[in-house]
Amino acid sequence: MIVVKSVTELQAWRRSVPAGVPVVLVPTMGALHAGHMALVDQARKCAGPEGKVVVSLFVNPIQFGPGEDLEAYPRPFEHDETLCREAGVDLLYAPCVEDMYATDRSVTIGENRLSQGLCGRSRPGHFDGVCTVVAKLFLRTRATDAVFGKKDYQQLAIIRRMVRDLDLPVKIHAGETVREPDGLALSSRNRYLSVEERQQAPALRQGLLQARLLYLSGVTDPEALKATVRESLRTHASCHRIDYLEVVHRGTLEPVDQVDGDSLIVTAVFFGKARLLDNLEM
Ligand code: PAF
Repeated sequence: MIVVKSVTELQAWRRSVPAGVPVVLVPTMGALHAGHMALVDQARKCAGPEGKVVVSLFVNPIQFGPGEDLEAYPRPFEHDETLCREAGVDLLYAPCVEDMYATDRSVTIGENRLSQGLCGRSRPGHFDGVCTVVAKLFLRTRATDAVFGKKDYQQLAIIRRMVRDLDLPVKIHAGETVREPDGLALSSRNRYLSVEERQQAPALRQGLLQARLLYLSGVTDPEALKATVRESLRTHASCHRIDYLEVVHRGTLEPVDQVDGDSLIVTAVFFGKARLLDNLEM
């Protein structure tokens, strides 16, 4: 595995890859766990025997708002490097902030529809930061393909929209969410949970599964599905606070009046200071 920290080294490596060879990017902010590594495995399969897998590792300051956890965000570089090496990654790109952004940077990519609700409502500017860094990573790596996890479903939908609207020549692949045995979705932020919060956090997944069962039994009222999730949290998690809970169309992220097979229940819930995301496709 080659480790590069500057865009110059990255571009030199990229020029050495023959034309026509797939280059599959997995963008990350590091603190890698089994969820990221499943995306890397998916990238490996997508690249095929001749293709190259690139992992980027960059805690992107412009997607964090004031008072968020930019400083506290874990940065275990050696651990991440080892995991990538063991997973057969071809190139690890770990730039510093100065390599990524000019100090007088003045251009940002903004998405104005899908990013307005859900996480975008409580994290203004977050998705502009994500779009800007992801577009730069696409341009710098000239990736043919990229893999994003479904746990951040809104992010995935926005990246697909950016690729479509800007004609970016990158094929986007969605990776399934990896979970603990009790259903909690893996996340770098799970480490912020206290013992008690960790015990209560699976109530979120349980609520989503119960809501889907309700839909499969014939209930199509989104309010009834949301009430089921709230009830699961109220009963099993004393320390939660719902940031949002919506039933939306999985492509447009618009709230639906009637639940159908294209609907998605999507939620963000605080357990103490940890804000956990989860969702379930109907
Ligand atoms: O999902 C993430 O970890 C980040 O938002 C991403 C896509 C790496 C951009 O910084």
